[in-house]
Amino acid sequence: MITTNYLIIGSGVAGLTFALKIANRFPERTITIITKANADESNTKYAQGGIAIVTDKTEDSYQKHIEDTLICGDGLCDKTVVKMVVTEGPKRLKELIEWGAQFDKNAKGTFDLGKEGGHSENRVVHHKDQTGHEIQRAILEQVMQKENITVLDHHFALELITQDNRCIGAYALDEKTNEVITYQSDFTLLATGGIGHLYGHTTNPIIATGDGIAMAYRANAAIQDMEFIQFHPTALFDNTGGSKFLISEAVRGFGARLRTKKGELFMLNYDSRGDLASRDIVSQSIDLELKKSGDECVYLDCTHLDMEGFKNHFPMIYKHCKKAGIDLETEWIPVVPAQHYLCGGIVVDINGKTSIENLYACGECSRTGLHGANRLASNSLLEALVYSDKIYHYLAENPFIEPKTASIIPRWQIQSKIKIAPEYIAQTKAKLQLLMRQNAGIVRFDSDLLKAKEALKSLQSEIDEKIKNHLVCTDLYELNNMIDIGNLIVQQSIDRHGNCGGFVKYETKDIKQ
Ligand code: FAD
Ligand code: SIN
Repeated sequence: MITTNYLIIGSGVAGLTFALKIANRFPERTITIITKANADESNTKYAQGGIAIVTDKTEDSYQKHIEDTLICGDGLCDKTVVKMVVTEGPKRLKELIEWGAQFDKNAKGTFDLGKEGGHSENRVVHHKDQTGHEIQRAILEQVMQKENITVLDHHFALELITQDNRCIGAYALDEKTNEVITYQSDFTLLATGGIGHLYGHTTNPIIATGDGIAMAYRANAAIQDMEFIQFHPTALFDNTGGSKFLISEAVRGFGARLRTKKGELFMLNYDSRGDLASRDIVSQSIDLELKKSGDECVYLDCTHLDMEGFKNHFPMIYKHCKKAGIDLETEWIPVVPAQHYLCGGIVVDINGKTSIENLYACGECSRTGLHGANRLASNSLLEALVYSDKIYHYLAENPFIEPKTASIIPRWQIQSKIKIAPEYIAQTKAKLQLLMRQNAGIVRFDSDLLKAKEALKSLQSEIDEKIKNHLVCTDLYELNNMIDIGNLIVQQSIDRHGNCGGFVKYETKDIKQ
């Protein structure tokens, strides 16, 4: 068994930022980060557009950013949270810069601010089209220099350990030795990111399987707003499954226009903000256009743009398109909506506390109330930075209270030495992903959701059996987690009545016989 003061699960912006802050403040305390892939692998690493922060108060204001966030969230945001997150932004940006992250500046020496859907002003601070990569690099470099932080890569967290609604650590599989290790901790932070691979067609890398939310759910933590799945309107259409390359919304902020195959500019038919309407509206409009036309994709037209300026702001997108055989000066980019982000997750209060004692959650796996029914573009990195700071302050100011009775932690029970067949995992995962795409996508029907609920029930009992009778391994537990997340999405979609933000559902009574 390994004991540590702070156990952090996940090494994206949320986990790393908290680790660095707490390590700086308490050099005598131990911090352990477990992360299931390489330490730099995360959704964070792929963030393109940037971080929404009010830095120029001549045109912009906190009030405008607050209003844009509230409009986007369609009435379901927590206003106190929105105000707190928006106004904390500049301080968190200053810190990132102190840690070595670089952001693009213009000729005047001020931030070169991008624009994305739902924003009334240019306010997105960025590093080219690789903002996440730059942030992850800078924070990870700092983390690696701290003697009191241990980073354990290729360690997969399996289950939280709780007693009397108090979290006392977690079990994790060391993928190099295949050993399950028990971690006992004073505080545990879940920073495990999103769920994209439940849908298969997603902008997320393969680590995004909802593990933290599923573990918290099994430990009886409150989970909310799982029906608010955000589909990004412009993932590169490439006719394959799996992760899809993102064409940042900032490209539309730069002037690119959405067209149908026939060349029609259609977004003004749906929203007066046109191509820069919020993400939920653009994805739903594309979905409708594709259903009307029967086409496989719509197109993003960049041919009229200043290509030198484009290459300077979006070098990665330019290169990726070129490699895919698309000449942006003469050809349109084929795009489709793809799963991108989860607005809900583990319920936390304003200090990042979950409903389980000593368990905190931060970043995409948490549900803070910031996003409501639909997240405003580039508010996610901001949320993770602000909440990791809130959790840090809360824990620094509130000393650890010893449990009344010393905990005896049982060892992980090894059930079987039989390895699960990789073919079973691949086939079941593909079945689950199709089930979610068909029944819990951009537009849902109650009747489909009820069918999906039944199918998930039978998948669940099948996987329970497999877990009982096979050697523990990451793939099997990821599949188990994805089924739990699927259940939560489907059930919470059934329970929600009335469409808002990224949630569109037809109930049986809405459908004319
Ligand atoms: P992540 O960065 O996803 O990190 C999760 C970590 O947890 C990873 O290290 C993972 O390996 C680890 N992990 C997961 N499960 C386990 C387990 N069982 N055991 C151990 N470790 C585990 N947001 C913006 O604000 N602006 C943008 O421009 C932007 N662009 C984006 C572009 C793309 C392509 C994508 C995919 C997302 C984008 N987002 C953007 C969203 C944003 O990047 C994420 O929401 C945010 O980075 C999440 O950070 P996180 O720290 O919560 O999770
Ligand atoms: C993008 O660059 O389009 C993604 C921004 C985000 O998800 O906030």
